[in-house]
Amino acid sequence: MSSHRISLARVEDLPPGATKKFIFDANGRKTEAFLANFRGELVAFVNRCVHLPITLDLDDNDFFTGDGNLFVCKTHGSVYDPKAGKCVGGPGQGKSLERLPLVVDAGVIYLDWDE
Ligand code: FES
Repeated sequence: MSSHRISLARVEDLPPGATKKFIFDANGRKTEAFLANFRGELVAFVNRCVHLPITLDLDDNDFFTGDGNLFVCKTHGSVYDPKAGKCVGGPGQGKSLERLPLVVDAGVIYLDWDE
């Protein structure tokens, strides 16, 4: 197992409320994920709903509910706590998105991935 960093974005390019999708290699499988700034806290999750294994955003990079309090899956409306990734309403309730580890170094956000 080796650890490596994948550069995702500059901190200044991801203000509160912003999200950015990315692809990374998870043990040989290309996996889609997203980075988000939730009120100043940077988080990243695999972009796969806990209800059905499809993306939350249906490809438009729009993850937050209108009030910015939660992430929402466009297909059946499961909503998620952006900090923990836990589904707090809808058909996926009680399960959690897969959270990914981040580090910030010299103003750059990296996925800090063990493989
Ligand atoms: S696929 Fe996300 S709520 Fe059903």
